[in-house]
Amino acid sequence: MNDFSLDQLYVAHLTTLMQRTDRSLAQSGFDALVVHAGRPPALFLDDQDYPFKVNPQFKAWVPIVDNPRCLLMYSPGSRPKVLFYQPNDFWHKPAKLPTAAWTAALDWTVIDDDSKAATHWAKLGRTAFIGPQALPGVDPECANPKELIARLEYERAVKTPYELACLRKANELGARGHAAAFAAFSRGGSEYEAHMSYLAACAQREEEMPYNNIVAYNENTAVLHYQHLERSAPSPLRSFLIDAGAQCRGYASDITRTYARSPGRYADLVQAVDRAQLALCGEIVAGRDYREVHLSAHRILGDVLEQVGLTRLPGQAALESGVTSVFFPHGIGHLLGLQVHDVGGVMSERLGHERERPKGHPYLRLTRMLEPGVVVTVEPGIYLIDSLLAAAHGDERRAHIDWAVVEELKPYGGVRIEDNVATTADKPENMTRDAFTRTAVRKDAAA
Ligand code: GLY
Ligand code: MN
Ligand code: MN
Repeated sequence: MNDFSLDQLYVAHLTTLMQRTDRSLAQSGFDALVVHAGRPPALFLDDQDYPFKVNPQFKAWVPIVDNPRCLLMYSPGSRPKVLFYQPNDFWHKPAKLPTAAWTAALDWTVIDDDSKAATHWAKLGRTAFIGPQALPGVDPECANPKELIARLEYERAVKTPYELACLRKANELGARGHAAAFAAFSRGGSEYEAHMSYLAACAQREEEMPYNNIVAYNENTAVLHYQHLERSAPSPLRSFLIDAGAQCRGYASDITRTYARSPGRYADLVQAVDRAQLALCGEIVAGRDYREVHLSAHRILGDVLEQVGLTRLPGQAALESGVTSVFFPHGIGHLLGLQVHDVGGVMSERLGHERERPKGHPYLRLTRMLEPGVVVTVEPGIYLIDSLLAAAHGDERRAHIDWAVVEELKPYGGVRIEDNVATTADKPENMTRDAFTRTAVRKDAAA
């Protein structure tokens, strides 16, 4: 899909957003909405800012992610208006007004001071304000109203065709990055080199990534959110786990791949998790309770654990006895969209109520029913994590685990495979596998 087609989809996206907002404003007792892009926080005792991360409620309306202090104003019945921040500043290069086709769907006014912007919405009636900083002139009672935000966040789980197209593109970029990072690993490059290769292939800088890349070798692959980058490759190099996404117009991909350096039990484990992951992707269908997908993952991974020799009991029994949680401690996935862990995952249709997580599964981020348009990740993993293994060694789970196999696999760390999957009215759409296939096809064509 080219930028022009995406721009056309944006117009319909905006219409849906306006309809959703009209409903939510009326239900929450507001006449209008203002969303502030936010300002980057300043470093303590310094004159620099942290990298700017735009308010997700702002980028839902306007695909501008790199210009702080802009505002979006919307009053039902009128076109949305952007107050575009363009300061008189000779230290920095002020942002240029965008001119792409999508901009025609909005009205534009240039401002040079967001702290004086409240005069622009003074006549709109009771106006809700959503933003990370309080601006002068905003009634504190109307700032970040919980009920309104909850209604908007609940609806955001169902993506518009524009959002689905952005997510597909974010997956294409990610697939390119993953191919480059794998090439770096294959030639023996360090974690740092694999990471830098990833960024270059995506043509995105580190601060544009939707989350910090997880680029891990050997034992580091067992650290769920491993945050370092070693500058030299370990010897021997056994395993590689990379969890890295990219963004398109503010929408995130969130992709994990794991590779074994040589054949053996760990390579078999990687393959078995990959097969399990594909089976679980098949469960992303409308009408399915995502909590059931999570429990199904435990059963399937329980069987994988037994097959590779780590445990001595089948999946269902492993789930019931808590053995699977030793090796698979996180949720099977989450909502994906403007934020990598998109909001609204445990919200119930009834305002203020949560859909409970299954007992004993505190880290599951999504408990909702799947419906067409909902995009989720599917990310089963099996890890050798010292603290969890030590806890299991100290209780009744000890007898179900083959500790010699645990010791054999520990130097390899862990395995995770993660795809981004859209629920449709029919078969699931695996955006990640589709993107990897297209990337491989393009590489073949270029060879
Ligand atoms: N990259 C974080 C996650 O997979 O949820
Ligand atoms: Mn991930
Ligand atoms: Mn994820």
